[in-house]
Amino acid sequence: MSPTADPRRAQAQLGDRSLFASLDARAYLNHAAISPVSDPVRARVAELLDDYARLGAGAFPAWHRQRCELKLLLAELLGAGAEQLALISNTTRGVTDIALCLPWRAGDRVAVFRGEFPGNVTPWQRAAELFDLELLMLEAEAYRHEPDGALRQLEQALRAGLRLVAVSSVQFQTGLRMPLEQIGALCRHYGAELFVDAIQSCGAVPVDVVAWQADYVTCGSHKFLMGLEGAAFLYVHPNRAAALRPHVAGWLSHEDAERFLCEGPGHLRYDRPFRKRADMFEGGTGTAVGFAALGASVELILQLGVERIYAHANRYLDLLEPPLIARGFRSLRCPDPQRRSCILSLDPPADINVVDLRRRLLERGVACAIPDGKLRFAPHWPNGLGEVAFVIDAVDQSLQVMRSQAATRTS
Ligand SMILES: Cc1ncc(COP(=O)(O)O)c(C=O)c1O
Repeated sequence: MSPTADPRRAQAQLGDRSLFASLDARAYLNHAAISPVSDPVRARVAELLDDYARLGAGAFPAWHRQRCELKLLLAELLGAGAEQLALISNTTRGVTDIALCLPWRAGDRVAVFRGEFPGNVTPWQRAAELFDLELLMLEAEAYRHEPDGALRQLEQALRAGLRLVAVSSVQFQTGLRMPLEQIGALCRHYGAELFVDAIQSCGAVPVDVVAWQADYVTCGSHKFLMGLEGAAFLYVHPNRAAALRPHVAGWLSHEDAERFLCEGPGHLRYDRPFRKRADMFEGGTGTAVGFAALGASVELILQLGVERIYAHANRYLDLLEPPLIARGFRSLRCPDPQRRSCILSLDPPADINVVDLRRRLLERGVACAIPDGKLRFAPHWPNGLGEVAFVIDAVDQSLQVMRSQAATRTS
């Protein structure tokens, strides 16, 4: 078999979607929602299922090793250590784990951002209710228009006393990439902790947990990491792990948790100490399929390099943005290239219903999303630059049909 024909030895190339043989949409621009599954991911999952079908529990050791290797790959992606990571079920679970386990003091203040995905707000609201905390709502949009002013406002809040700042590295609606190095430096200076939801970055926008000075980072695998739903990770800074309370602990949160299963009698105990590392959050059995898929997709991403993927996706968006603006769309892409992600969001022209537009684009082979009414395009490494003309053509056809139908209705 040639290397490209065998998906287990696949070579990814920027702008080449040949590893997505089953993908329907001609322009798949919805990686900020759920990515399509590549052939190497399918092959890895099929391999796992074959093993479990043949061996049952006998398949466990090899796929347990795969999860340890996955942590090494994710660590490389984040600039972290593998032992600083927990494999968990979803991004929100990572937020919840920290929100429930921080050693809060009544009256502690937490800053969240208006405009954030609710996954990074609801758990902090619950913690506020349970632990008598105060939530402060800052404005994410301010970082697009006037980042210096927004940082000054954050500094004021920190000076007045914040225990933690919870923010997404990239805003899901607008694609704004937050200035995390500056936010992290301010948090460090004023003694606050920094929590980052990185699901709109990891896999396509460079991430460096050390440069961010982040204390906690969480991310699910079904968006730019190109894995499946139901698998995620949580990074915990080594200096923070010991202070966390085991409020969500399970049987695997203890040191030597599995000894009673394989070392003969006398090891079944309920008083083993809790792990003082990120993996205290791996309280029970996780998704073998999800982590196998994630391993295969991250291998491809590392093969290509996140910096190259980021540059490629932005070349795509550089081509897509001007013709849309010329057609009356208002771009929400940040004027500062440093603050851009792999998302282009736009407000459609005033006479265009965005729900209808999205449906018509999909019918024409363009998959995109409409979070809170913004038209959101999110390319990734397989999108070829040649697609852009096709997307614009689909937009033109859709606008034309919608306008002529509106004209018929009013005549
Ligand atoms: C910024 C952000 N955080 C969290 C989520 C939800 O992630 P999960 O379902 O893994 O909790 C989404 C997306 O859907 C998102 O855009």
